[in-house]
Amino acid sequence: MDMLLAHLLDAAGRAPSAHNTQPWLLRPLDVALEVRIQRDRMLPAVDPSGADLLHALGALLENVLLTLAARGLDGSYEVQEGAAPESVVLTIRWRPAEQPAFDPTLYRMIPIRRTSRLPYEPEAIPASTLAELESQATAPCRLRVLTDPSHVDEIRRLATDATVEQMADAPVAAELYRWLRFSRRDPRWYRDGLNASCMAWKRWEALLGRVLLAPLPLRLLSRAGLLRRLAGQVDQQAPRAPAVALLVLRGEGHARRIEAGRCLQRIWLTAAARGLVTHPISAAVDVSTTRPRVYERFGLGPDDRHVNLFRLGRSAPPSRSPRLPADELLALPAPPTIA
Ligand SMILES: Cc1cc2nc3c(=O)[nH]c(=O)nc-3n(C[C@H](O)[C@H](O)[C@H](O)COP(=O)(O)O)c2cc1C
Repeated sequence: MDMLLAHLLDAAGRAPSAHNTQPWLLRPLDVALEVRIQRDRMLPAVDPSGADLLHALGALLENVLLTLAARGLDGSYEVQEGAAPESVVLTIRWRPAEQPAFDPTLYRMIPIRRTSRLPYEPEAIPASTLAELESQATAPCRLRVLTDPSHVDEIRRLATDATVEQMADAPVAAELYRWLRFSRRDPRWYRDGLNASCMAWKRWEALLGRVLLAPLPLRLLSRAGLLRRLAGQVDQQAPRAPAVALLVLRGEGHARRIEAGRCLQRIWLTAAARGLVTHPISAAVDVSTTRPRVYERFGLGPDDRHVNLFRLGRSAPPSRSPRLPADELLALPAPPTIA
């Protein structure tokens, strides 16, 4: 059990999450793993519906299921609809597989997949690779991809406009500031959140960001109408890419959102297997003024909901983002008290 647990924890801990908050707590049982949400790692301002949190849990679930299959085990899971923070939202169980269904390609990519915020090379992504990515988006999800350079640029501009709007939204900007790590001297640099290295910031950009992105200076910049100067560079917020993709979902509910997170992770792992990197640019769909333009450009119908909008391409190797130590992912029973 301990060897399996170590293996599962490693895979679970590598799952992506918005702002890299890693909002999960895992409780191992005999042949099951319970997953809870950590309230102080939620993002109430930027993710008020909790949809991105469920997508991240779905990515964690996919990593765990791929790992169980690699160990010759059959995973199944149960989602608790409407579970409150700190209570169990997901239970993953396993038993020996009758017909092993191990996907070595996706499994091997769990530690390789990374978000890259760097500029991407302009070479077109082969149609066969795009078709492979699209095939990972099974019902109730669909993947839409734009490769026409003028359409890609339009989405990049919308993402930038949306980021400027988010900077003017004090709770959203303060929440981002809380998860940014500007210097290696900050011990949180190695644990969680978005450090300057993952953000692809130069040293002077990190120094400036630390001062200007703090709530008070940001408010003053906003009042002075200077936010566009600070955050309005398209090549900074959403650098060039040969493609942008939108994962779309039909329906609502915790189970569907978690399913969508599984699809998203399979798509990102498949991209990694083809030497590609991804970069979510969620602002463009999170902000209500830019969302309709994005939906229109991707040709979404009235029942379609966005899961994740991301850049797709090839880049120089990005920095590896930090992760919490394994013991902090675990909710272990309290040690017995000594009378
Ligand atoms: C649901 C979701 C939404 C995300 N949204 C953004 C985003 O808007 N902008 C961004 O730069 N990264 C975004 N990310 C990427 C995370 O910041 C990234 O996964 C995390 O920092 C861990 O890094 P890694 O993907 O390299 O492991 C998102 C990730 C997830 C799972």
